[in-house]
Amino acid sequence: MGCAAAGGSPTSAALGETLQVATDGHLPVSDFGPAIHGMLIGGVGILHVFVAQFAVGSGALLLYLQARADSAHGDANGTDAALCRRFLDGFFPFLVLVSFVFGALTGVGMWLTAIQVSAPTIGLMVREFHWLWAAEWCFFLLEVVAGYLFYRFRRRVSPSTRLALLALYAVASWMSLFLINGILSWQLTPGEWLQSRAVWDGFFNPSFWPSLVYRTLVSWTLAALAATLVVHLMPEFDREARRALQNRFAPFFAPTLLMPLVGLWYLAVIPADSRSWLLGGSIAMTMFLGIAVAASTVLGLFAAVGRLWQGLTFDRSTTLLLLALAFAATGAGEFVREGVRKPFTVRNVLYSNAIAPAEVARLREVGSVTDDPYPLRGAPLPTDELTLGAKVFRAQCRVCHSIDGANGVLHLTGTWTPGQIRMNVAKLQRTKPFMPPFAGTPQELEALTQWLLWLRSERPARWREGPPEPGNLAEIAAWLTEAGTEPGSVHAEHGGPR
Ligand code: HEC
Repeated sequence: MGCAAAGGSPTSAALGETLQVATDGHLPVSDFGPAIHGMLIGGVGILHVFVAQFAVGSGALLLYLQARADSAHGDANGTDAALCRRFLDGFFPFLVLVSFVFGALTGVGMWLTAIQVSAPTIGLMVREFHWLWAAEWCFFLLEVVAGYLFYRFRRRVSPSTRLALLALYAVASWMSLFLINGILSWQLTPGEWLQSRAVWDGFFNPSFWPSLVYRTLVSWTLAALAATLVVHLMPEFDREARRALQNRFAPFFAPTLLMPLVGLWYLAVIPADSRSWLLGGSIAMTMFLGIAVAASTVLGLFAAVGRLWQGLTFDRSTTLLLLALAFAATGAGEFVREGVRKPFTVRNVLYSNAIAPAEVARLREVGSVTDDPYPLRGAPLPTDELTLGAKVFRAQCRVCHSIDGANGVLHLTGTWTPGQIRMNVAKLQRTKPFMPPFAGTPQELEALTQWLLWLRSERPARWREGPPEPGNLAEIAAWLTEAGTEPGSVHAEHGGPR
């Protein structure tokens, strides 16, 4: 099964050397206060995915409605056709507004936040999938052009031209989903690519198909829900017309029922450790999975069963409620997708803190922030050691932790003795296997410990001066050796409790 390759132990030594470009030097750092950086990507990402999937699904839905109108299926006097066409013409400006304007804004926002949070990850994605990004952009261009032409000339051109433009729009928008899906799923399950470095091995990776099918189904559900809402917002439709139109959307709701199956398929192909985070290993991840499953189950039951077998129609507030559920499901789903990759941004290739696994051993010798040129924000800290500690935190921990906000490290270490801090951080990947191994010198770890203790003491103006205690350094060095440089999931996979 594909997951064997994806979940197997990393051959980190072989992977590191190709990443020189991505990890050379220090990139500018940003500080987002109490938010953790991962949340930032998540926040923008959820909005973007929601809108983008809505746009993709709407392309398919509109194409279907146009085809139906052309064949005037089962309707001798053509009112069905007229209804479909009227809806289409009314819905399209809404689609264009939401997907072009909001989609483009959040899309650029994704790049912006992703580059702030982990430029090396983006660098690697760009390098490995250069032409696929270019192709994705071409499809987006096609989508915009076809969409604009339809928008501008829809009332003037022949039905066959309308159909052709909508087909172009639908195919182009789905193709951009297809392409981006390959790149995003590669992050969690790079599969054969780890050995071959072949672009198609990375693209058609073990989780490619389940996530493509899942996203396509989600896009249809979203489109059908949004269309239902728009039907209610368009004043020209009476009760009967609204009902008739909702029946037209039903085929796009039905596949919602398949979502649990596709979800299981996805669970089956992701690495064993990621699966274990979801199934109880990480409380937050399990909770988000629960939200996603619950919301989509309710949605599926309501939308598919209700619509198909009871002929139930939704009023405006039910539709809004269902859309909110869909948003919750998408949001939780994206959090899960981002979260289960921990401790990696690209599995076995780059840790969440943009350190390559193969670099850990070297950084333990030379230090993780030795040549970090960027100053800390705010007033200078009382000692050089504290400054060092704060920089180590920024470089290695900040992407997942804040100081005293979200996942705040002060809170997490609040009751620990200095010795416990030293040991648990030295053995970071064993403390929690979804954290990367500590990648710095014993001095850096001691500095981080001092900085945490200083923060806990409410930042006094004076703090311990002079070199670190040799005894502490020796103890840390021994713990670092004991923990090794491999990711924690290796221990969990081989011999750890299942
Ligand atoms: C990939 C993301 C990630 C990185 C990088 C990371 N952590 Fe964590 N860490 C977490 C998560 C998630 C938790 C779990 C929090 C919880 O249990 O609520 C955690 C928990 C902890 C805990 C509590 C452990 C326990 O057993 O209760 C400490 C302490 C900690 N991290 C310190 C650090 C330090 C120090 C660094 C940097 C050297 C770091 N972390 C880097 C994600 C990360």
